[in-house]
Amino acid sequence: MCIVSVLDVYKNKINVNTEIIIRGWMRNKRDSKLGFSFLDIVDGSSVYPIQFIVYNHLLNYQEVLKLTTGCSIIAKGILVYSQGKNQVYEVIAKKIKIYGWIDKPNQYPISSKKHSMEFLRTVPHLRSRTNLISVISRVRHIVMKSLHDFLNENFYYWIPTPIITSLDTEGMGSMFRVSTLNFCSIPKNSDGSTNFNSDFFGKESFLTVSGQLTLESYACSLSKVYTFGPTFRAENSNTSRHLAEFWMLEVEQAFINLNNVINLAESLLKYVVHTVLEYCTDEIKFLMNKVDHKIKEKLETFLITDFIQINYSEAINILLNSKKRFQEQVRFGLNLSSEHEKYLIHYYNYRTVVIKNYPKSLKAFYMRLNDDQITVAAVDILLPGIGEVIGGSEREERIDVLISRLKEYKYKNQDYEWYIDLRRYGTVPHAGFGMGFERFVSYITGVSNVRDLIPFPRTVKNSYC
Ligand code: 4AD
Ligand code: MG
Repeated sequence: MCIVSVLDVYKNKINVNTEIIIRGWMRNKRDSKLGFSFLDIVDGSSVYPIQFIVYNHLLNYQEVLKLTTGCSIIAKGILVYSQGKNQVYEVIAKKIKIYGWIDKPNQYPISSKKHSMEFLRTVPHLRSRTNLISVISRVRHIVMKSLHDFLNENFYYWIPTPIITSLDTEGMGSMFRVSTLNFCSIPKNSDGSTNFNSDFFGKESFLTVSGQLTLESYACSLSKVYTFGPTFRAENSNTSRHLAEFWMLEVEQAFINLNNVINLAESLLKYVVHTVLEYCTDEIKFLMNKVDHKIKEKLETFLITDFIQINYSEAINILLNSKKRFQEQVRFGLNLSSEHEKYLIHYYNYRTVVIKNYPKSLKAFYMRLNDDQITVAAVDILLPGIGEVIGGSEREERIDVLISRLKEYKYKNQDYEWYIDLRRYGTVPHAGFGMGFERFVSYITGVSNVRDLIPFPRTVKNSYC
């Protein structure tokens, strides 16, 4: 007799005619008038439930008849080949121990009927009990693991960068404040501004929008590094691709340029997609059934198709020459909106589109100025369906240019002294990128809203659980 997972059974790790114990939750039950019931039990390890056949001679069969979706169970029985055609295995129950009943079953939010994603977002603490969210969770896990695997296999070191910082790396001004000041009596300077001397860190502090700047310091010694963690942006963007708390992978490397960054990102994305196709076969099958029947084909095509690379100026020309009327204005010097991104992806037949060399005014101060003095060596990588998944650049390694860029942005040099030190002491060309993890998982799963790809989404006016 052994305690096993449902996945152990489906991976053929258990011999038939063995006594097994499965611990999980009942998904469905069918009672036959002939004196037996079928229980479908899930434990989160597999897309498929395991079917227990419970005969009425079991001592607590009357209790079994009262089971409803969601009850927790420890079930013992003999594993056999199934007589039915819907499953390979089933278990002849010898004992069913009911652990937790469902309080008021008709009010249980996760009944066996189909639920909308919008409804499930209102019960984030329970939604992982659905097949779709558990599939997403397992794919998310494999994506995360394979990112680490790729970087480890290629000798990048994982550097945890700080979550609390005083730097607005991206210059967006959309940061969450971290403070221990009493909101009811905020200390003031003589000019009326807040006096942060008595705050915990003695200066204004925030949750990080990117670990890049501190990661650069390690790239300038360990050469190949990455950071991976939660990232926070207080953007008032109520869209399907924005979260206030999301996970970002950032990779940084010394002695590489923009082309190297693009190639590295392409290899990384393809490695992960390849791994998902290899290890998540049941999950992909499920997603094809429930979300997008072309998902496997899309991912397989992604693996064998080169990324399209264009300059920002070419992207603007394509948009200007199109017959489509865009809501947002198109002009050199203006940001590309999501409808522009969509058009470009459509223009290139749903391939991955890499846009390079943006006007410096659109990008952060740290990006390396190109010889034209107008653009910076920046890159955005756009994936069909979700848009920008990666943003990266060469970093300005020339101290004089960096200082004049800080001046243009009206940043105080004293706040960036340590960052300037990296250019003062043995500066090197270096570059890197950041990947929005949930956006990439959205591309892989075909699930369009990033709120469904992170367990407990934080968005404007929503931080439930
Ligand atoms: O393009 P971003 O702002 O780049 C940076 O932060 C750089 N410092 C990264 C680097 O070079 N090390 O953000 C990187 C990616 C975006 O391409 C997008 O995929 C994702 O992070 N992202 C978000 N994902 C979900 N919700 C949001 N609010 C996001 N903002 C950015
Ligand atoms: Mg960006």
